[in-house]
Amino acid sequence: MTLLQVNNVSHRYKSRSFFKKESHSREVLSDISFSIEKGTCLGLLGTSGAGKSTLGKVILGLEQPEHGEVLFQGQNLYKADKKIHQQIRRDLQVVFQDSYSSVNPRLTAERIIAEPLENYESLTIAQQKKAVIELLERVGLSENDLKKYPHQFSGGQLQRINIARAIALKPKLIVLDEAVSSLDMVTQTLILELLQGLKEDFQLSYLFITHDIKAAYTISDRIGVLEKGKLVQQYDSKHEFFTSEHSAVKEMRSSILAEHPRFRSIGTKEKAYAHA
Ligand SMILES: Nc1ncnc2c1ncn2[C@@H]1O[C@H](COP(=O)(O)OP(=O)(O)O)[C@@H](O)[C@H]1O
Ligand SMILES: [Mg+2]
Repeated sequence: MTLLQVNNVSHRYKSRSFFKKESHSREVLSDISFSIEKGTCLGLLGTSGAGKSTLGKVILGLEQPEHGEVLFQGQNLYKADKKIHQQIRRDLQVVFQDSYSSVNPRLTAERIIAEPLENYESLTIAQQKKAVIELLERVGLSENDLKKYPHQFSGGQLQRINIARAIALKPKLIVLDEAVSSLDMVTQTLILELLQGLKEDFQLSYLFITHDIKAAYTISDRIGVLEKGKLVQQYDSKHEFFTSEHSAVKEMRSSILAEHPRFRSIGTKEKAYAHA
């Protein structure tokens, strides 16, 4: 079942220059079309400035595109009435890169995770606390963390809290915008494992936005490559992606192969990934 359908989306930011009369801003997204099936992860890979976050915002309903349409379960995101819009907002969540700035530093973990529940569910205080504890445990934290503040957590733990908040309303799609990019390798692996488990348990779909080819490869079922606002390639499988001769993919692949001695020591590059 197709959950998200993006049709011919183009976008440019309006120039806010005081001196220029007309806006001549360049196109940031150019005729982008793709879809995400229920329960799958689409990796969106591209270098900095490619337009990945803009596309994420367009999909989240935060940046209305100049052209094209975004359909969530068949409903046009930018034309939906209030009721449908509210439902879409429940079903569509986001986790950003910077775990610290994504949370209010003055709120405890309990309050942070409870926020979507307060907005959308009418639970009693006891029910809500129970739900928050279950969410904490599901992301690998515990009841002991309820009363802690953001500064008392590591970056990885805080990202777990952001994930708990994102899954609190049992959404259908989560946009993960560089969600593991600022974490060290070990923590990245653990968070990717957590995301993989949640995806299976809740039949979740992800749009996994990243500049990191290895992270994309680890978690994605399908991969799209965004280059200067254009979706230049779409791969329906990891194998198709890894063996691609497209220059952007080759470049990214060689950069990570050079980074990790482990990948250099094994005969074929593909073998290295098969066991990663
Ligand atoms: N709010 C904005 N106003 C104007 N230009 C923007 C804005 N946000 C991003 N851009 C520009 O759009 C391009 C794509 O940015 P972005 O979507 O953040 O790329 P990525 O996430 O792939 O690094 C960049 O050239 C960036 O400078
Ligand atoms: Mg970005």
